[in-house]
Amino acid sequence: MSAKSDVIRFLEQNKGSFLSGNDMAQQLGISRAAVNKAVKSLIDEGYEISAVNNKGYCLSASSDILSAESIKLNMKNTFFGDIKVYKEVSSTNAVAKELASNGAAEGTTVFSMCQTAGKGRLGRSFISPMGSGIYMSVILKPQIKAEEAMIITSAAAVAVSRAVSKVCGLETAIKWVNDVYANGKKLCGILTEATINFETRLPDYVVVGIGINITPAAFPDEIKGIATSIKENIDTEFTQSKLAAALLDELYNIYKDLDKKTFLDEYKKRSFIIGHDINVIAPSGSYTATALDINELGNLIVKDKNGDIHTLNSGEISVRKI
Ligand code: BTN
Repeated sequence: MSAKSDVIRFLEQNKGSFLSGNDMAQQLGISRAAVNKAVKSLIDEGYEISAVNNKGYCLSASSDILSAESIKLNMKNTFFGDIKVYKEVSSTNAVAKELASNGAAEGTTVFSMCQTAGKGRLGRSFISPMGSGIYMSVILKPQIKAEEAMIITSAAAVAVSRAVSKVCGLETAIKWVNDVYANGKKLCGILTEATINFETRLPDYVVVGIGINITPAAFPDEIKGIATSIKENIDTEFTQSKLAAALLDELYNIYKDLDKKTFLDEYKKRSFIIGHDINVIAPSGSYTATALDINELGNLIVKDKNGDIHTLNSGEISVRKI
């Protein structure tokens, strides 16, 4: 581990308190000069660190810069322990796919403070301005058939809802298949991409990308009416690191027992379209239907106006509540 990540960890652990440079150097087993250099570089990166003669260094109690160290300090499990945090990438899904195709292990996780080409479903883009949200992707290697892999998106939606509730005290609802809503507006989108082995029909890897809006600051006008952010809905103080850590913990809790599919009950309870009339928008055309249920594969079961039942898988379909 580098001196810089040791110093971040130490400062994060003691946020709001002064630590003498000598004590830090001694406890970390590095030179005083290495501590100074690391602190200087952290200040250049935007960390609010006060340096006071005879007192040492203090990371501001309100500091909220996402780092692998700050996330790990708040995490309970180590399954998603290989965390990479970037300042800017095109898309964390693109980075994670590249890492996975080069052999990165299951559990490798990529965060970025912004994305220049964030991707949404159906070829849409996902607006990801600097510091306005959590943009992350995890690499999974589930031993389930390709056609079942869709439930990972549902699992991620439940994990997001649980984490946002625990850390921010905000209750959310899920819109099949991949959107998490707060007070009627979209708070989070999920994009799952996979590379499938044609012989085994098992995924070589699955990349689950999650984007959660934290602040409304930079939404373009066309999105303002339909999107929301955590800070528009609550006054509670929280840090992005705590939310990211809770999200990874909840994702792990569900993923470790994915085959039991127990989370699907919670998914259905949080769904705000089951029992309601919806517009089904498919490449072959749109129709109105009533959303009846979600099955074991995460498919949406709907009944159209003629009474015919359709089983929808997310592929190219989206739905709108009427
Ligand atoms: C959607 O709303 O259609 C899905 C949006 C998914 C956005 C996340 S942000 C992190 C990850 N990287 C991407 O490029 N997309 C996902």
